Amino acid sequence: MRFLARLLSVVVPLSLMIGGPSQAREWEAIKTSGTIVAATEGGFQPFNYYDGPKLTGFEVELAEAIAKKLGLKLEWRVVPFDAQLAALKQDRFDFAIASHGYTEERAKSVDFAHPHYCTGGQIAAYKDGPLTVSALTGKTVGVQLATTYADAAKKLKGLKNIKTYKGDPEAFSALRAKKVDAWISDKFTVKATLDKNPDAGISAGEMVFVERVSMILRKNNKTLEDKLNQGLAEVMKDGTYKALSEKYFKEDISCRS
Ligand code: ARG
Repeated sequence: MRFLARLLSVVVPLSLMIGGPSQAREWEAIKTSGTIVAATEGGFQPFNYYDGPKLTGFEVELAEAIAKKLGLKLEWRVVPFDAQLAALKQDRFDFAIASHGYTEERAKSVDFAHPHYCTGGQIAAYKDGPLTVSALTGKTVGVQLATTYADAAKKLKGLKNIKTYKGDPEAFSALRAKKVDAWISDKFTVKATLDKNPDAGISAGEMVFVERVSMILRKNNKTLEDKLNQGLAEVMKDGTYKALSEKYFKEDISCRS
């Protein structure tokens, strides 16, 4: 036994030193390093997207404000949305902020901070297309892979087909090209997309479900979770959150209940 303990005390730290994956770290390690590492997608306007070469959006600016409150620099990792849960479990970053709605399925493998906005999934289609849940019967719906919109589409009865796309912009393009009859996405993303494409002839339709959106982090990283919640509470209290929300949505999109 003693031999085994000694062996482990040598072997374990060594294996940690030899180029293992970078860690989703404990709060103490983050604080000591002075930098927190966050993942987002960069394809989900107006929450996280590219304005030319610049990563920006409500969630990008919000995370930067939270990091500042915690006295940290923030370093971004841009990760495809459908890879984020797995990458988090592999410790590629400390947390992700990419509009993850709370689901019991996700909560089995990651933890959720307090919600930073409340929203829902909405149908979009051509003006003469299926703009309500009941009109979707027999139709093809396009959604982003691994999203709650994909989950919601699977639950709708009578759809002809569900087509999944790597990103939401691709799902919108498929709708424009009439490869799908309808697109389900976040109501604010639908609005931002339609505002940018006023001549597309596409409208926002019925809401399909509502959800609460949070930053996600590795399971049982309790102190980091507390710190993220504390940072969020502080930016909500001092008006930073409201200003950002007004900037991107012209309203306060925080969860009221
Ligand atoms: N809110 C949806 C979900 O929880 C979609 C999030 C998509 N995020 C993104 N960055 N593309 O699945």
